[in-house]
Amino acid sequence: MLNNVLNKAPSSCFTRQALAARPLTANRRSHRRSNTRCAASTMVQQPHPITIAPSKEPNFVQLADGSKMPMVAYGTFLMQQPGATRQALEVGYRHIDTARLYFNEAMIGQEIKEWIAADPANRKREDLYIVTKVFNDCHRPEDVRKSAEASLKDLDCGYIDCMLIHWPDAFMPGVEIDFMGDSVPRDDKVTLADTWKAMEKLVDDGIAKSIGLSNFSLRQVDEILKVARIQPVHNQVELSPYIPQWTLVEECKKRGVMCTAYCPLGGPSAIKPNKLIQDPVVLKLAQETNKSPAQVLTKWSIQRGVPALPKSSNFDRIKTTYEGIYDWKLTDEQMQALNGLENGYRTCAPGWKTWEDDNSYVKELTAAAA
Ligand SMILES: NC(=O)c1ccc[n+]([C@@H]2O[C@H](COP(=O)([O-])OP(=O)(O)OC[C@H]3O[C@@H](n4cnc5c(N)ncnc54)[C@H](OP(=O)(O)O)[C@@H]3O)[C@@H](O)[C@H]2O)c1
Repeated sequence: MLNNVLNKAPSSCFTRQALAARPLTANRRSHRRSNTRCAASTMVQQPHPITIAPSKEPNFVQLADGSKMPMVAYGTFLMQQPGATRQALEVGYRHIDTARLYFNEAMIGQEIKEWIAADPANRKREDLYIVTKVFNDCHRPEDVRKSAEASLKDLDCGYIDCMLIHWPDAFMPGVEIDFMGDSVPRDDKVTLADTWKAMEKLVDDGIAKSIGLSNFSLRQVDEILKVARIQPVHNQVELSPYIPQWTLVEECKKRGVMCTAYCPLGGPSAIKPNKLIQDPVVLKLAQETNKSPAQVLTKWSIQRGVPALPKSSNFDRIKTTYEGIYDWKLTDEQMQALNGLENGYRTCAPGWKTWEDDNSYVKELTAAAA
């Protein structure tokens, strides 16, 4: 189903230059690396399947390496709003998702420090779960390292909780690309295994506590698991009622890899019209539950057991999406109504990306095992 619904976004202003040109207000402080080594660094790769233990705390999911990730994250793609991260922390988000590509790590890092400094007795770095990502032009081992060090320097938060490979697609180092455009020079000198080994080194050296993937198909997840000394804990992918990717989520879970939901609200309308947040079914459920459409969509995700990363730059929306999110439930009928919206509509579909069909891959695996 996936391959026949390749909703390609038009080539747009999402070049790295355009994203980088947005002003950042935070001070860039010196790099402070934690000496803390992660338990995962000594973890020997288990034969899969490794199952993910249900967390006793409903607000968290326990990952395969024992770390705990809050179920709702503050997403920050296209977020350049000073004060927004601080607002997210004030209203309760403890999981922040950024990326080298978003050009906001320094601002986020600065606001995290300010938030902790305002009440140091009750606020600790360890209370937060910070995710960032190595972009496509940094897949070579030396570039993975440079990118990770630059992220840590900008975030200035001692360590990264989880560093992800942003996309499984390697671009030539340093190319200036139109992110949504069709043609990008590919780097055939580096394999996913090379990149993964460099990611593992980040854990060995205390830069990241955990490592993971983003936009990986199931076959690509398996490619990593075959060579991994340190297991990937996440696969961050687009997940919403329009594109629930049931097979990918379930099969990753069996392998001990937790899928997390980007574009859970239907994505930024700056890329593609957001039809989901205005879908009549979502609006009807919002009315029935007396919640906002963003709360209904975030709830759908976490109620199916998938951490969600809703983004907003708007202070009120940051607050209302998170407010009381763990304190109520959609009924089975309401969950079914949202499940019924599946249509494969993909918001984040850069022109250079070819998506793989996970259902066909599972059929191949089943046939090979028979
Ligand atoms: N790994 C990847 O490749 C990847 C790709 C995409 C996204 N992500 C991550 O996932 C996060 C979430 O995805 P996303 O930002 O693309 O999309 P999203 O969270 O599904 O949607 C964000 C859009 O919804 C709007 N919005 C938020 N709350 C709203 C509300 N209550 N009512 C109406 N509109 C609302 C936001 O506008 P305002 O800001 O104006 O509120 C923004 O335009 C990202 O921020 C990023 O951290 C990762």
